[in-house]
Amino acid sequence: MLHVRDLRVEFRTRDGVATAVDGVSFAVEAGETLAVLGESGSGKSVTAQAVMGILDSPPGRVTGGRILFDGRDLLKVSAEERRSVRGARMAMIFQDALSALNPVVSVGRQLGEMFQVHRGASRKDAWAKAVELMERVRIPAARARAGDYPHQFSGGMRQRIMIAMALALEPELIIADEPTTALDVTVQAQVMDLLADLQSEYRMGLILITHDLGVVADVADRIAVMYAGRIVETAPVGDLYRAPAHPYTRGLLDSIPRLDQKGQQLNAVKGLPPSLLSVPPGCSFHPRCPAVRPVCHADEPPLYEAGAGRASACHFWKELLDDECAE
Ligand SMILES: Nc1ncnc2c1ncn2[C@@H]1O[C@H](COP(=O)(O)OP(=O)(O)OP(=O)(O)O)[C@@H](O)[C@H]1O
Ligand SMILES: [Mg+2]
Repeated sequence: MLHVRDLRVEFRTRDGVATAVDGVSFAVEAGETLAVLGESGSGKSVTAQAVMGILDSPPGRVTGGRILFDGRDLLKVSAEERRSVRGARMAMIFQDALSALNPVVSVGRQLGEMFQVHRGASRKDAWAKAVELMERVRIPAARARAGDYPHQFSGGMRQRIMIAMALALEPELIIADEPTTALDVTVQAQVMDLLADLQSEYRMGLILITHDLGVVADVADRIAVMYAGRIVETAPVGDLYRAPAHPYTRGLLDSIPRLDQKGQQLNAVKGLPPSLLSVPPGCSFHPRCPAVRPVCHADEPPLYEAGAGRASACHFWKELLDDECAE
């Protein structure tokens, strides 16, 4: 359904050109959940914004690649066509519902407007649809609360309202950018369960951007791990957890606490990611890699095929997998 090929996004800044997305390729099929994982600044949100067509431009600019949605390259369609895809066929859920929702319009009205604007519904029908949606996302006393404003809801309930907004027009694809990061742990799990339920019910494709490895294991089919603007490993979720084929992924997995607490940040990989203005030569991960070898300083690894449905951008992926099997 969605095929992204060799996507490149640059930001022109005073200090130079930062390549925030550097040749990223991935696909999402109907009913599938792709989790995108990686440290802060690795290019996850910029990738999502490019796919949605909401990149801050300038300073951002898509400088290469294709975004094929249902066979059409979204980078080539008219602005008007792009707008009609957005919302109706693909929708986005953001981390911060309070700033994504309009503070001075009741949630019933905001939800209803989706049906008025896109489906030509009357105000009365739109309101009924809005209440129905609020029920779908399990907001208690939906009918009574539809007239309330965003700030009158708790963080978890607001996030449900944003999920309802995204679902309103039954899109084929939802991109959720850290949808539960701002919530406390128990509410996170509830919101994530809801999203996963609705996704399988509607058979939508879901791109789930997250820091939270605990969440990923439960809901994702595939994982793409990003580092410095590139995908460094992609694999079905079970394979990646059993035996990562990239030292960065391995570091991320080692950082999962034993009691599998939700909401852990990825911070066990020593050192910091590089500035995108001066990405190290060779493998961009080499300065932090515990298994670095001389070749890694000079030769940039391609994304090697590393078994069925797997790929790794490590010269030594095979040794890593062999090691893990031996352990
Ligand atoms: N508006 C902007 N102006 C300049 N550079 C930007 C802008 N937005 C993003 N970038 C660059 O793109 C890089 C990737 O940013 P992005 O928001 O995609 O990271 P992320 O992986 O989503 O991180 P986080 O986990 O913190 O959300 C940043 O490090 C920054 O260099
Ligand atoms: Mg982000």
